Amino acid sequence: MNEHRLIAASILASDLARLREQIEEAENAGADWIHIDVMDGHFVPNLTMGPVIVEACRRSTSLPLDVHLMVNEPDGLLKAFADAGATSMIVHFEACTQLYRTLQSIRALGVRPGVALNPATPAYSVSEVLPIVDSVLVMTTNPGFSGGAFIQGMLDKVIELRALRSERGSSALLEVDGGIAPSTAPLAVKAGADVFVAATAIFKHPGGIRSGVESLRQSMAEVASA
Ligand code: DX5
Ligand code: ZN
Repeated sequence: MNEHRLIAASILASDLARLREQIEEAENAGADWIHIDVMDGHFVPNLTMGPVIVEACRRSTSLPLDVHLMVNEPDGLLKAFADAGATSMIVHFEACTQLYRTLQSIRALGVRPGVALNPATPAYSVSEVLPIVDSVLVMTTNPGFSGGAFIQGMLDKVIELRALRSERGSSALLEVDGGIAPSTAPLAVKAGADVFVAATAIFKHPGGIRSGVESLRQSMAEVASA
């Protein structure tokens, strides 16, 4: 496994009635992280999972839990997600009035902080926080739902973030999230992404979860990054 090409299985498209089995299947097939999409019905027009689901995931696997908070002003929720077992917590640039402080608070809770960018938000927005985050997540669809169409123009943002990352002496991982499938993942590899978040391509693969993870891994295997 190339440690710079991690697959994060997003349980948004999983069968929640069988959450543990679904996570185990993804893990056994080689998924590196479990990605949990938290939506508040305000920042995005959908309402999904809270700390209880993170806690259920924590009891189902020892893989890192990557918690993506699509929530306005998430400060009041951070401790609950940390206590539930989040490994990393990603907040949105657009959702935090005091982004720097929020990221520091996540670190102080012993969790790895990350920042996410909506499609309309340019790469340079995170320049000042790059030195204090462990990941930057580029939304490659509009946030809120799984199964959205991949926005090809976001690949330029990944390329810009790579340059910005070295400029700022940061080692943050670059995540791509939304519409990642065997047809799009190689493009994101070429652009230089490190973490590939996928829901539909894994949990709704017609051949099952194992085939989903394996086809994704295979599509990325022989692509050289730029
Ligand atoms: C979308 C979420 C994504 C979503 C990806 O708002 O942040 O993590 O689960 O779903 P797919 O892979 O189906 O586009
Ligand atoms: Zn996500």
